[in-house]
Amino acid sequence: MAEKHLNFIGGEWVEPATGEYFENRNPADQTDLIGLWPRSGKEDVERAVQSAKRGFEEWRRRPAPERGEIMRRVGDLMTARKDELSRVMTREMGKVLKETGGDVQEGIDTAYFAATEGRRLYGKTVPSELRDKWAMTYRRPIGVCGLITPFNFPLAIPTWKGFPALLSGNSIILKPAEDTPHTATLLVEILLEAGIPAEVVQLVHGLGAEVGSAIVEHPDVPVISFTGSTATGSIIGETCGRMHKRLSLEMGGKNAQIVMADADMDLAIDGVLWGAFGTTGQRCTATSRLLLQDEIHDEFLEKLVERARALRLGNGLEDGVDVGPLIHQRALDKNTAYVEIAKQEGARVLTGGKRATGGKLDNGYFFEPTILADVKPGSRLALEEVFGPVLSVIRFKDLDEAFRINNEVQYGLSSSLYTRDTRNAFRAMTELDTGITYINAPTIGAEAHLPFGGVKMTGNGHREGGWEVYEFYTETKVVYVDYSGRLQRAQIDNYDASPY
Ligand code: UN1
Repeated sequence: MAEKHLNFIGGEWVEPATGEYFENRNPADQTDLIGLWPRSGKEDVERAVQSAKRGFEEWRRRPAPERGEIMRRVGDLMTARKDELSRVMTREMGKVLKETGGDVQEGIDTAYFAATEGRRLYGKTVPSELRDKWAMTYRRPIGVCGLITPFNFPLAIPTWKGFPALLSGNSIILKPAEDTPHTATLLVEILLEAGIPAEVVQLVHGLGAEVGSAIVEHPDVPVISFTGSTATGSIIGETCGRMHKRLSLEMGGKNAQIVMADADMDLAIDGVLWGAFGTTGQRCTATSRLLLQDEIHDEFLEKLVERARALRLGNGLEDGVDVGPLIHQRALDKNTAYVEIAKQEGARVLTGGKRATGGKLDNGYFFEPTILADVKPGSRLALEEVFGPVLSVIRFKDLDEAFRINNEVQYGLSSSLYTRDTRNAFRAMTELDTGITYINAPTIGAEAHLPFGGVKMTGNGHREGGWEVYEFYTETKVVYVDYSGRLQRAQIDNYDASPY
C-alpha cells in the first residue's frame, strides 16, 4: 500500500476533510507509484485561510531582518538537502537530475536573495513642501497570498512566489500542481524546520478546479500568484478582477531563437538543443521556434538534426540520459496531435514526431525530440504553444523579417538572437517584443535575482524574481509627520506665502 501524505493546515499535518486521495506516479515509469496525496476540497481551503489570517497577524509584526534570518536558514537547509530534493523531483516529474539540481539551486538563490532583502525592503524619505513636516514611504505586507504553481519547476516556482511573499510579512497558502506534490511537501517541511511559524504557511494539495479555484474565489485571500496556461490565467483573471484582488500571472510562451548567417553556428546549435529539448520542452521559456536566415538554413538543420538524434531519452535518475519524459498522457496526446497538424500544414518532420518506445521507454510518456521544417509564419505550429520537445523551424531573409515573425505571436516571454554583429544585437534588444531577450544564449536560463516575466498574453504586467517581485507582495504606505504644531494645508498655505 502506498504511503499517504497530508496537507499542512492550521499548524499541523492533517488529512483532507474530503477523505479522498490521488495517486502520484513517475512519468518515466508508470509502474512506480510514489505515494498518495490529498484530494482536498473547499472545507480544507476554508480552514487554511482562517489559519493563515492568524499567522499573518503574528508574522507581519516581526522585524523584516528577522524574517530574513529565517529565509537564510531555509537556503541553508535546501543546500544541505539539494541531492535529495533533486531526486524526489526527478522521480515525480521526469527532468534529468542535472536539471532538477538547477531547479533546487534557483530556490536556494531565491532564499538568499530574500534573506538580504530583509535588511533592505527600502522605502523613501521625500522632502515635504511644508515646513517642519516629514514625508516618507514604507512597504507593508498585504495579507494571505494564494500561490498556485505548475509541475515544470516544482521547487523554483513556489520559491519565486513564496519567499518574497514571506519575507515581506505575508502568510501563504500553496497549492502545488497535482503532478508534483512531493517536492512541495518537502519544501514546506524545510520552511517549518527553518523557523517559519506554523500558521504562516499552509499547504493544500488537490486539483486546480477544486482547490485552486476555492483559493482564488475566497474573499479573504487578497493576493493571487499563478503560473500556468493562458487559458486558466484568463479564468483566474476574471475572478480577481471582479473581486479587486492583486494578481500576478505568468503564462504561455512561443519563444524564438533567431540565428543570423554571421552567427557562430556551433554555439547556436548548442543553444537551440538546450532551449528546445531541456526539460523536455516543458518550460514557458522553451525554444519552440527556430528562425534561420536563408543562407545557413540547410547546413544548420543538417547538423542540428544529427545532434538531436543523438540525444538519449530515459529515466532522468539514470546516468547518461539527456531528455526525460513528458509529464502525462494528455501531454503525449497533445504533442502527437500537433505533429499531425504540422503535417497537414505542409511542414516536414526532419526527426522525431512520435512517441518514443522500446524497452523501459514503454512504461513512460516519452516523446522523440522533434524538428519540423518549412513551418510557415502564421500557421498553427508557428503561433501556438505545444509545451513539449517540438521545434518549429521558419526561414527568414533579413533581420526585419525575423523581428516581424517573432512578434506576430500572442505571447511575449523570451527571445534570443545569435549574431556576431553588435548592431544586430542592439536592434534586437529594442525590437523583439518579449519580457526577456538573450543575445548569443538560448531562450531559457533566467537568473533568480533578475526580474522574470513576459509581455502580451504571457503576463499581466508583473514580474517575479529580483527586486521587482517585492513590489507585488507589498503595499506602499505613505506617512506624513507634521511637527509644526499648527494646521498646514498642502498646495495652499505654502503658495499663499510665496511672493509669486
Ligand atoms: C518556466 O518555464 O516556467 O529561465 C520558468 C528559465 C528558468 C525558469 C523557467 N530559470 O528557463
